[in-house]
Amino acid sequence: NKKIIITIDGWSSCGKSTVAKELANALGYVYVDSGAMYRAITLYFLRNHIDWTHKKAVKEALENISLEFIYNPQSEKSEMYLNSENVEYVIRDLVIAEKVSEIAAIKEVREFAVAQQQKMGEKRGIVMDGRDIGTIVFPDAELKIFMTADNAVRVERRFQELYEKNPNITLEEVKNNLELRDYIDSNREISPLRKADNAIILDNTQLTPKEQFQKALKMAHEAI
Ligand code: C5P
Repeated sequence: NKKIIITIDGWSSCGKSTVAKELANALGYVYVDSGAMYRAITLYFLRNHIDWTHKKAVKEALENISLEFIYNPQSEKSEMYLNSENVEYVIRDLVIAEKVSEIAAIKEVREFAVAQQQKMGEKRGIVMDGRDIGTIVFPDAELKIFMTADNAVRVERRFQELYEKNPNITLEEVKNNLELRDYIDSNREISPLRKADNAIILDNTQLTPKEQFQKALKMAHEAI
């Protein structure tokens, strides 16, 4: 059986990681959450008070960052490790979400992350989600999915997720953060979020999680 590369790009919180993880498990592929890498870098910058407006500071900081995905059979997904520490939970915090898009727009940061992402795909048999995976990281991927969902639906879903961890969070904060990230991600100079010409759109506004998975799996079987 031929092993392919599947890319899933799209707006913040439209369910990319859910589909990517399910597809990878169904096909026996590796799942890589590229956003987790930018979140882990952001965590490092914040913790170490890195002044990311200075190229030199960014370069030096990146030299001290080691990122690794390690599979956790309990969560059935690979979890993000920053310098050997499992940061999968802390990187989901709104404090990280508020800065990540600014940091992900930095050229050196993208080069650092993209090189590692491309290496992970060398053997193919991978599902990776993000913003520039079908356009920049794997332009030759056999299947490219571009996910979208109505704004209100995305805000509500992300709010529910964050509220479980922190009941002080407001719908307004979540809405503002999604809008800000989508704005920065799609307007930045380097690798802005956009649909690859040959990507298939998957709008899940009206779909149940099961229906969405079945559609994606059908696309995968057609591409393999
Ligand atoms: O996917 P997630 O929402 O966790 O990504 C967090 C942020 O990381 C995005 O808002 C975006 O700024 C950045 N990102 C990126 N390129 C990717 C994946 C994520 O710039 N391939």
